[in-house]
Amino acid sequence: MLDGEMGEAVQLAAEVVVKVAEALGAERLVPVKNAHVSGISFKNIGEAGLDFLKSLASKNAKFTVPTTINPAGFDLKKWREMNVDDDFFVKQHEIISSLVKMGAEPILSCTPYEIKTPKYGQHIAWSESNAVLYANSILGARTNREGGPLAIFEGIIGRAPYVGLHLRENRLPRLLVKVSDIPKGSSAALIGYTLGMIVETGVPYVESPVFLKDPKDVKLFLAAVGASSSIGLVLIEGVSPEASIYREEIEKTNVKKIEITEGDLEDALSRISGELDNVDAFLMGCPHLSLKELLEVRDFLESKRVEERLILFTSRNVIEKSGRVVQELKNKGVEIYADTCMVVSDLNRLGVKSVALDSAKAAYYLTAQGYETVLLTREEILKKVSGE
Ligand code: F3S
Repeated sequence: MLDGEMGEAVQLAAEVVVKVAEALGAERLVPVKNAHVSGISFKNIGEAGLDFLKSLASKNAKFTVPTTINPAGFDLKKWREMNVDDDFFVKQHEIISSLVKMGAEPILSCTPYEIKTPKYGQHIAWSESNAVLYANSILGARTNREGGPLAIFEGIIGRAPYVGLHLRENRLPRLLVKVSDIPKGSSAALIGYTLGMIVETGVPYVESPVFLKDPKDVKLFLAAVGASSSIGLVLIEGVSPEASIYREEIEKTNVKKIEITEGDLEDALSRISGELDNVDAFLMGCPHLSLKELLEVRDFLESKRVEERLILFTSRNVIEKSGRVVQELKNKGVEIYADTCMVVSDLNRLGVKSVALDSAKAAYYLTAQGYETVLLTREEILKKVSGE
């Protein structure tokens, strides 16, 4: 590969992955089962990103392991409803076509783990932080938090640097986190955001995670950890497959213990959530809603009127499996978009400037983009939109 016998694109990919491996002190590369590439919205990567992908595709680059891609800048079927202009439309399609030409499967979703679930212990190369945290923490698969371009190169050569979370010794807990002195019903997303802010890096072990009652809370929690830190694995007691295996390390190595308190949550909340009386829209679906989550929303709203603007984001895969659910929600006035998300699309074009949402990750990124945000729990959102 490095000699160029397999073509210019493979040579470039191998050179980059080897350089990164050397810089990180890896002894070797590790074969990966699949790759997932983030950063594919034209809104985020612009002309430079588009040129990079076009040039790789023109060099005949091909993924050698199954490779999926993250949400794009708009719903491919409802782009007119999203008021996308022609230039954005064309350039976003060029990005997707370049990746598809290289062999990517265009799932356009940040929840690849719900579409094809990696197995325990499998080495993978993923570059979407919520997906990385889910794969490592919930499935016991092994990936570092790669950058988008690096995941592309790793998908081309089917290998990643054998460092970081690929190695057992780096998956051991470095810190014990207790979340005890907080109000009942606190948002799992806010707790995740707070944990990330305080811990910043390494592998935290979360004891007695009573705030993670349900799979949707786990997704919101991990996505939020990813937004406020560089953490790639959280060992959650009773949830993560490796938590019980590594539990004894905590006593053996006498790791530092910290406690997350109500004051910490208040501090974190003040950074991503304001006091808004009126919002333009209520948003859910960061990370993308699963079919189960979509059904829960439908069930909650079934006998109620939707009195506020509610916008949901999910994957095309879920829409295709959802049967009448999407239509039932649409009949109530709920807007549902696939292929994109609340952060990488352009909410301004939907006439939205202030939002209430249940995702601390999205609250963080939308605040940075100049939107006004208020963080609520999913239950609070559903009650508000239905006038309860
Ligand atoms: Fe996914 Fe977009 Fe959130 S990519 S995790 S929905 S910011």
